[in-house]
Amino acid sequence: MKILVINGPNMNLLGTREPEIYGKICLEDVNNELVEFSKTIDANIELEFFQSNHEGEIVDKIQKAKDSFEGIIINPAAYTHTSLAIADAIKGIDIPAVEVHLSNIASREDFRKTSYTASNCIGQITGFQKDSYKLALVGLYNYLKK
Ligand code: DQA
Repeated sequence: MKILVINGPNMNLLGTREPEIYGKICLEDVNNELVEFSKTIDANIELEFFQSNHEGEIVDKIQKAKDSFEGIIINPAAYTHTSLAIADAIKGIDIPAVEVHLSNIASREDFRKTSYTASNCIGQITGFQKDSYKLALVGLYNYLKK
């Protein structure tokens, strides 16, 4: 089961970027932890990671994902609140996506309470820091196995 994990803008700064909100762990370590966790679910889960600060690159990656992945976990970061292009890309492919946030976007500034992308995903996990990705993987795995 191949799953694509996409992280949007500024997620490459994880660990040093506003650690009181996003935690002190860097993205590579979040990804490595997710790989280890995936093995406890099913040894056949294969994860690929992609991070970009560029909207179009994320759209391109989502479009291509339908040929080689069964599902997507995506933290669109700030594009969550602005990007119709990423929302449309998720809607335009026939594989399921789960939206993830480290912080609880529902309890932050008003502009973060709107997600353009969530309604095109099968679900949204928000506020559990690095564990948000693990919870998303469990949800996506169970959805795909049904
Ligand atoms: C974020 C929340 C977004 O509002 C913010 O722009 C991010 C990170 C999160 O994971 O909590 O960059 O997606």
